[in-house]
Amino acid sequence: MINETSNINEEISSVDNCSCEEAQICIKNLRKVYKTDDSETVALEDFTLNIRKGELVTIVGPSGCGKTTILRMIAGLLEPTSGTILIDGKEASGPGSDRGMVFQDFALFPWRSVRRNVEFGMEVAGFPKEERRNRADKYIKLVGLEKFANSRVHELSGGMKQRVGIARVLVNHPEVTLMDEPFGSLDAQTRNIMQVQLLKILEKTDQTIIFVTHSVDEALFLSDRIIILTKRPATIKEIITVPWPRPRDRADPEFSILRKRILVELENENVME
Ligand SMILES: Nc1ncnc2c1ncn2[C@@H]1O[C@H](COP(=O)(O)OP(=O)(O)OP(=O)(O)O)[C@@H](O)[C@H]1O
Ligand SMILES: [Mg+2]
Repeated sequence: MINETSNINEEISSVDNCSCEEAQICIKNLRKVYKTDDSETVALEDFTLNIRKGELVTIVGPSGCGKTTILRMIAGLLEPTSGTILIDGKEASGPGSDRGMVFQDFALFPWRSVRRNVEFGMEVAGFPKEERRNRADKYIKLVGLEKFANSRVHELSGGMKQRVGIARVLVNHPEVTLMDEPFGSLDAQTRNIMQVQLLKILEKTDQTIIFVTHSVDEALFLSDRIIILTKRPATIKEIITVPWPRPRDRADPEFSILRKRILVELENENVME
């Protein structure tokens, strides 16, 4: 029986050992202040991180600490107050087809069918109808919605909408996929299936994924590295390199030891102000 003295805590490295030159995504000293007429909210402070091509990095941290803010800035949907984000050496100013984002609130077109939601990006990019349909159907199947391809999105459950949101982004084969709690509203069983599917897609496509989650279990099952944030204003508290190859066994005692350690770190940040 492995106990707390297991060497797992020594195996994990806390060092972000990829240089900006080697990285696909190079983020330096990112800071975000939201200003309204009568207040200022510092959401993010001194956020520096390099991510390699093909890496799956998860971000965990207390609610309201600034996770969505980070993803929106990488997606080019939100201007940083200061700091830089380079994607393949180029500044990420404004959205681009190299990045796709799965939104926390799905952001679908409710009046369109599932298929026409998934086809949307390809429609904008001017793909021929047949290719659009073939590619859309492949991803609709991947998220298990083939029976609902012609249903309108407002007729679907929350979890089904979330799966449409995932298919709609992955179908465009972005270089970088930003996922904001993509499995948050799925039931536990579907969530586990989607995690396995995501890893299969990653294997086939070598996509880089930045994934926000509140589930430490999910972060440990999926990631190459886990970024633990402090409470707002978010800064990096610790970076954990997950030491096991995939597929991972959630029942492994070492998995539990690392889960517990991360949960304790998060609990320390979760003090209500
Ligand atoms: N458009 C905005 N204007 C003003 N303040 C904002 C805006 N968007 C976010 N904030 C504030 O910035 C902080 C970080 O918000 P953000 O949505 O990034 O948190 P989060 O970590 O994603 O939270 P959750 O886990 O609940 O999704 C919060 O205090 C929030 O109120
Ligand atoms: Mg959020």
